[in-house]
Amino acid sequence: MRVLVLGGSWFVGRVLVERAVGQGLDVTVFNRGRSPVDLPTGVRRVVGDRESPSDLVALAKEGPWDAAIDVSGSVPAVVARSAKILAPAVGHYTFVSTISAYRDWPHAAVDEGSALWDGDPGLDPGTRRWDPDTYGPLKVGCEIACGNAFGSDRLLVLRPHVVLGPYEYVGRLQWWLDRVRRGGRILVPAPDRGIQPVDVRDLSDFLLERVRDGDAGVYNVAPNNDEATFGDMLTACADVVGPADKRVRFVWADEDWLVEQGVTQWTELPLWRNAAAPWSMSAERARAAGLRCRPIAETVADTWAWLHSGGRPVDHERFGEHGIAPDREQELIRRWLTEHPQS
Ligand SMILES: NC(=O)c1ccc[n+]([C@@H]2O[C@H](COP(=O)([O-])OP(=O)(O)OC[C@H]3O[C@@H](n4cnc5c(N)ncnc54)[C@H](OP(=O)(O)O)[C@@H]3O)[C@@H](O)[C@H]2O)c1
Repeated sequence: MRVLVLGGSWFVGRVLVERAVGQGLDVTVFNRGRSPVDLPTGVRRVVGDRESPSDLVALAKEGPWDAAIDVSGSVPAVVARSAKILAPAVGHYTFVSTISAYRDWPHAAVDEGSALWDGDPGLDPGTRRWDPDTYGPLKVGCEIACGNAFGSDRLLVLRPHVVLGPYEYVGRLQWWLDRVRRGGRILVPAPDRGIQPVDVRDLSDFLLERVRDGDAGVYNVAPNNDEATFGDMLTACADVVGPADKRVRFVWADEDWLVEQGVTQWTELPLWRNAAAPWSMSAERARAAGLRCRPIAETVADTWAWLHSGGRPVDHERFGEHGIAPDREQELIRRWLTEHPQS
């Protein structure tokens, strides 16, 4: 089976390509060549910019492919153009979207039938900077653009929750691992909150299985929200980094109190959000179709192992946007323990 991956050299795409090659697929990647070149043996790399129509026309001539997987689309007008130019050379198209496509996330539980943001398939916002306020509507516009080019019977859309694991460059889990490595008293929220990050390898395997089946439609991709808690993730961090009782004391602070102190959700304490339903995505449809999710402890351990085997996130503009400053963290811990001496 011949597969084209649009992207393919960072994080989700990089792991997807590795798994695809492991399954014997014939893989071509298309990217600008700014990202690492340590692709698995046998992968063909076509260098080009998906914003350039002439690069896309040249790419289409390298086909045909049984399937294309778009892991790098975030601007509707650009995705629309790529999909239109590639459609004659591609049998089946997968677009990797996001939980942020849902209008009510993180305030209400979501399944595939939940309301989406309004999306404009022709929109180009001009800037390419990632913006949490426009990310969801732009991805919806991309989904519509893909549907316009491929129709509902040739298009698979996946909407994953947060993705973690080796090659991750946003740095969410890596920040927690590093924070635990530094030891001492660590400010942490909501030990009992269920969380649903999906391991990049599980996402990739599910995607490839659906592609091999020529499946169409929409799937949310996440573990069940009763499989792991925030506390489980941090305990797993302590387990891989070193003996927790000697190095680390988790100080669990009340979520509303953290908000009152002005702690920035999602970034200062990565993966924490004090909304009603940040981790209430239903992925029943995917599970029924074969999605299997490994335990969070395995994701944590393998990310740590990857980092310590020479693995390094690519130099990405978003790496480093996470984490609380050490002085501020310790000041908040002192304040919390003074106000709540029993905790
Ligand atoms: N991270 C998460 O937690 C999460 C959660 C849900 C969904 N998602 C979705 O998952 C998808 C995959 O994310 P990702 O982090 O693996 O990849 P990404 O950052 O969306 O894309 C990076 C890849 O695309 C290539 N690329 C970027 N701009 C290009 C251009 N103009 N022309 C050609 N190639 C280009 C890059 O290589 P070059 O720089 O060399 O061109 C690289 O291979 C994204 O669509 C994201 O929305 C992510």
